[in-house]
Amino acid sequence: MPADGKVKVGIIGSRFEAEIHAESFRMIQADAEVVAIASPTAGNAQKLADRYNIPRVFTDYREMLREKDIEMVTIAAPNHLHAQMTVDIAGAGKHVVCEKPLCMTLEDADLMIETCRRKGVLLLYAEELFFTPKYVKAKQMADQGAFGRVYMVKQSEKHFGPHAPWFWDVDKSGGGVFMDMGCHGIAFCYWFLDRPKIKNVYCQMATHVHADRTSGEDNSICIIEFENGAVGLVEDSWARRGGMEDRIEIYGEGGVTYADLHMGNALPTYSEYGYGYAVEKAPTTKGWTYPVFEELWNYGFPQEMRHFARCVRGKEEPMATGEDGRVVQEVLYAGYHSAGTGRRVELPFRRMGVRIPIDLWLKSGDE
Ligand SMILES: NC(=O)c1ccc[n+]([C@@H]2O[C@H](COP(=O)([O-])OP(=O)(O)OC[C@H]3O[C@@H](n4cnc5c(N)ncnc54)[C@H](O)[C@@H]3O)[C@@H](O)[C@H]2O)c1
Repeated sequence: MPADGKVKVGIIGSRFEAEIHAESFRMIQADAEVVAIASPTAGNAQKLADRYNIPRVFTDYREMLREKDIEMVTIAAPNHLHAQMTVDIAGAGKHVVCEKPLCMTLEDADLMIETCRRKGVLLLYAEELFFTPKYVKAKQMADQGAFGRVYMVKQSEKHFGPHAPWFWDVDKSGGGVFMDMGCHGIAFCYWFLDRPKIKNVYCQMATHVHADRTSGEDNSICIIEFENGAVGLVEDSWARRGGMEDRIEIYGEGGVTYADLHMGNALPTYSEYGYGYAVEKAPTTKGWTYPVFEELWNYGFPQEMRHFARCVRGKEEPMATGEDGRVVQEVLYAGYHSAGTGRRVELPFRRMGVRIPIDLWLKSGDE
């Protein structure tokens, strides 16, 4: 494989996150180029390929993996497919970028990490909050001592529920909002505090408004205690009206900072008539809205993909790996178990034989 030049990329998936990957790579053309896309829905795949000038389209990702020039493959497919896809990509000798959450089970996580290690390829965990400029600024200030000893880190992400049916089917997603977005907050607190050992996890969750659509939880609160004494508070909702909210709060004995990802770099706007697009998950463009400019850059997606491409070239050390995804997976398990039992769960919590994480909540009475 070439040691320099643009990293040749294949994308698996052709909808929401696949488009974000394609757009992000378009923004970092000096480092990488998407040469192929694979998705079982041929029409969607072709449309995405046309929009981004991607020359090769496959309906079976395994065929795409036979393309010799592809060096890195990104997985933008439903959660239950991540593990098998990773094993197949690594088996073809290509580096893996896996979307969050890493997978469904701890056994999957181990298999993914071990397979990539054995095949000598990178397993890069696509947690863009490690690259979100506003949040990176908060971490830089914390690292410079701005807040003294940080004792609490909060991250929350809320909207009224995801766009595609598979998210609502726990057999495909593994769980509700805690699995889907709690994974961001868990990773964020862990990363922000420089990956301290996690002592225990307490979680409360419920299905407040979407019980007709899913057996998954649509609201969750998770408290993580770290060995250094700091606390992480991760709050997520699919029950929150009014579009997308993504926020952090950092508290130290010497200071505090707050960041709202969408506000402050949005344009407070009033329109009687509506307009094209405001921001992800905004229900309307009429009335008062907060359109965000440079949306993907504000999230950190192009920066994340640039970093991953540079890791493949050996120019940077991976900042978000399969091991991070595995830590998150263990906290997801502990959180569901805590919500199921009403008790705080001590780590390590490496329960084997779990079918899907949410079973630890839904089936806690069966134990
Ligand atoms: N980082 C983030 O903030 C973020 C945001 C959204 C989604 N995601 C993650 O990205 C992944 C995809 O989510 P999405 O929102 O794009 O879902 P989506 O439903 O919009 O798209 C899923 C895609 O996967 C494809 N797919 C399904 N089965 C496949 C198969 N067997 N082989 C190849 N492709 C297949 C579908 O055709 C579709 O194109 C999920 O793991 C999700 O958690 C991450």
